[in-house]
Amino acid sequence: MLDLKIAGGHVFDGTGMPAVRADVGITGEGIAMVGDLARESAGQTLDASGLMVAPGFIDMHSHSDWRLFGNRRAESKIRQGVTTEVVGNCGFSPAPVSPEFREDMRGFALYVPPGMDFSWVSVKDFLRRYEEEGLALNVAQLIGHGTLRLAAMGFARRPPSAKELATMRGLMEAAMVDGACGLSTGLIYAPGSYAETAEIVEIAKGAGAAGGFYASHIRGEGATLLDAVAEAIRVGREGRLPVQVSHIKAAGRAHWGRVGDALALIDGARAEGLDVMADVYPYTASSTTIRTLLPDWVLEGGIEAMLGRLRDPATRGRIQADMATGPVLARGLEWSDIMIASAPSHAEIEGLRLDEIARSWGKDPVEATFDVIQSEKGRGNIILFQLDEADLRRALVHPRVMIGSDGSSLATSGPMADGKPHPRSYGTFPRVLGRYARDERVLPLETAVHKMTGLPAARLGLGDRGVIRPGAKADIVAFSRESVRDLATYEDPHRYAAGISHVLVNGRTVIKDGEHTGSLPGRVLRST
Ligand code: CU
Ligand code: ZN
Repeated sequence: MLDLKIAGGHVFDGTGMPAVRADVGITGEGIAMVGDLARESAGQTLDASGLMVAPGFIDMHSHSDWRLFGNRRAESKIRQGVTTEVVGNCGFSPAPVSPEFREDMRGFALYVPPGMDFSWVSVKDFLRRYEEEGLALNVAQLIGHGTLRLAAMGFARRPPSAKELATMRGLMEAAMVDGACGLSTGLIYAPGSYAETAEIVEIAKGAGAAGGFYASHIRGEGATLLDAVAEAIRVGREGRLPVQVSHIKAAGRAHWGRVGDALALIDGARAEGLDVMADVYPYTASSTTIRTLLPDWVLEGGIEAMLGRLRDPATRGRIQADMATGPVLARGLEWSDIMIASAPSHAEIEGLRLDEIARSWGKDPVEATFDVIQSEKGRGNIILFQLDEADLRRALVHPRVMIGSDGSSLATSGPMADGKPHPRSYGTFPRVLGRYARDERVLPLETAVHKMTGLPAARLGLGDRGVIRPGAKADIVAFSRESVRDLATYEDPHRYAAGISHVLVNGRTVIKDGEHTGSLPGRVLRST
């Protein structure tokens, strides 16, 4: 007898094959049978007639790290059908922490849930916190290079000493033993931007030797995009590990069209025998922290040092003169391309563009930006309208590109409902299925599903997830082909997606008939 039967649906197995009419039978955490199960009895039956059934979606690029501690139900993600989030991206993970630089880590954190004490040191101690109180979905943890650098040498803007480099590599190796899945970098963000390639290669070797992969927010996504992709490939070649180019894009109007060239570099690396893939989110705006508008030297020494420089009139003038060299502004953005997504101490400017804010404050946009960074103490996010729809479509259809939201688990009520965050946190997966696959026919639905299931599972080395077959873990989503769609917009982002009926994580029902059951069956995943 089965514990649960998902009956009457059309099943995508996650390999890219079209859906077939089948029932799915579950015992415990796993899939026991797939086929015509009309004669099998089950403790519980979920009606999937008229629905598509697929492996649970894997969000290859998430920033939920902190949010999950204030949102264990993972509302905005689980309601898209996401059953696993890959966290620790863009060079930043909450662990490991060295006691010496604990306060730097607190400043580096983009969001700190109330009651978070930063008392962990190892990755093992940190990962335990996810499972102790439960989570709605599974997580796979990357280790941020910025975090390793902070632990070894703080916010120092120089190459590491031999000893510091050995510390970083040692911490990386220990993290792999503790359950991490690889190394991530954020090479436009201090302190990651202070590192040369050789430093990253050395740490990457520690991850690669233990079966990990290298995910990179590359060093440039505008004029230097192709050099930056080449650098990521070099880390894979010399570090001997698979490469994941995070949220592939060509930012800034002058660089539109170059995603095709970046994908050609990836194809070339694969022809050379290297394992290189990428991920993308289905929007033409990006989002990051507002402090990324500053030239990276301003962050030397950490967040307090940055705020001190902004307070000092002479240094403030130097920053002002140097603003156009910042990692984001160098792409040639207009102030009207930049929207404030979150600035809790100035909630009235959330959703407005920087040119409007500057006008209403009677200030220059640079001064207005400094003021927001100061009042938010280095936190606060922006949305940048700077990407090309044709580039996005090129990435979506490339066989080695999968889906990653670059967003976080948010919720429409409580502290996760603040501000005007990028809608990708609510809409990424339904938007690919609804808008791009069904409505615009940019790619077949079974291919879209593969890019959310079997393909990321292969990258993560999860042999028993991302597929529907007997013996696999029962992470499953049932959705409506006709009504699946994203509802979140830039103006009104806190809206759950439509058309996601049932979601199972490790055999337990977390979403039933579109409602959250409160179940928290997620766990930390390790490659098999
Ligand atoms: Cu990211
Ligand atoms: Zn990034």
